[in-house]
Amino acid sequence: MGIKDCRIIELPKISDPRGNLSFIEGNRHIPFDIKRVYYLYDVPGGETRGGHAHKDLQQLIIAMSGSFDVLLDDGREKKTITLNRSYQGLYLPKMIWRELVNFSSGAVCMVLASEYYTEDDYYRIYDDFLLAVRRNK
Ligand code: TYD
Repeated sequence: MGIKDCRIIELPKISDPRGNLSFIEGNRHIPFDIKRVYYLYDVPGGETRGGHAHKDLQQLIIAMSGSFDVLLDDGREKKTITLNRSYQGLYLPKMIWRELVNFSSGAVCMVLASEYYTEDDYYRIYDDFLLAVRRNK
């Protein structure tokens, strides 16, 4: 798993003059069952979220409103992806260090996750993440 597995997934979009509609079905539009949803909002300008990697968790990150940048790092390569469309999701496999930055005012970041929350699944120290990447090479 690495940067090359991080990808934008175009979600179904039902365009309608009354307002557009998008939807996501687990294991259909995304490659995992959805066990958890969480969202970030009221992020003050200049703040950073994330700053960790997950041992097993897969996620889909969507800018429901506004925009932000996702800095990705698999321990070898880095890449930045800007999210600013409600009908696009960024799929992240396990073992990707991510930071979310440059939140626009009013931005809402929704995350669909493949597992329930558990602190055991996190690498919160970058050097621990790098060691794990090298161990599994
Ligand atoms: P964290 O994952 O570090 O936030 P982010 O990556 O978005 O910056 O989580 C922040 C806090 O919230 C931490 O104390 C754990 C808690 N938390 C839960 O209790 N459940 C959850 O589903 C998530 C994502 C976080």
